Amino acid sequence: MADTDKKKTAGEGAAPLPRHIAIILDGNGRWARKRGLPRTAGHAVGAETFRKIATACKNRGIEYLTVYAFSTENWRRPEDEVGTIMKLLGRYLHEAIDTMERDHIRMKVFGDVHALSPELQALVAKTDEISTRYEGFQANICLNYGGRDEILRAARRYAQDFKAGCAGELTEELFSSYLDSAGIPDPDLLIRPGGEQRISNFLLWQCAYAEFYFTDVLWPDFDEKELDKAIAVYQSRDRRYGRVK
Ligand code: IPE
Ligand code: IPE
Ligand code: MG
Repeated sequence: MADTDKKKTAGEGAAPLPRHIAIILDGNGRWARKRGLPRTAGHAVGAETFRKIATACKNRGIEYLTVYAFSTENWRRPEDEVGTIMKLLGRYLHEAIDTMERDHIRMKVFGDVHALSPELQALVAKTDEISTRYEGFQANICLNYGGRDEILRAARRYAQDFKAGCAGELTEELFSSYLDSAGIPDPDLLIRPGGEQRISNFLLWQCAYAEFYFTDVLWPDFDEKELDKAIAVYQSRDRRYGRVK
């Protein structure tokens, strides 16, 4: 895909790395169909890609990686595909617990976890507990996540606290503290592989000033080289936040 971003001229100094990268993991199904495999085979390879890219982010000094793995809309898919994705997520979280303890990684789940199976909810509670022990790189996996749903859940909790007299006047900062991403800086760079150029209900509040990077590469084919390409494009951007240069 042609990217029109201009490179910074030499001598301008190294642009900072994004602190927080968000990725919409898209293209698993098409990757599998291209190979004559069931769509679910793409989800299995996609989970491996996430493992590799999380390690690559950690090694590059990225502080936070947030990935979109299952949306509030993905329940509309055929039952067997949803079932396989849930099974893969369970296996993934189970294995991730060992990695977290070995490499001192924090991992959080964003989304409405109440709709997940009791087994998955127990794994989420365990990863939350382990995360409190460490500092440093944090991966966030969005499961049964929708940006609108997150905003509604936050608004409801704030309203409850306000009614109970334990929340002050609503500000952007206070509202952010009710979101799943409480305490985490907003994503600097949002990557969407898979060729679509839309946000699909991902981090709607948090992406207010994210830099977007779209690529036709399907998620299972996404590798360190692609990650570095996205980071380089990010570093060539001029983030003005409404100001003039
Ligand atoms: C992303 O890949 C994984 C999920 C949304 C669960 P897709 O399954 O959307 O793959 P495509 O877009 O159909 O190729
Ligand atoms: C977005 O991908 C959701 C996740 C990656 C979890 P979709 O494949 O569901 O998005 P749409 O349907 O193409 O917008
Ligand atoms: Mg898709």
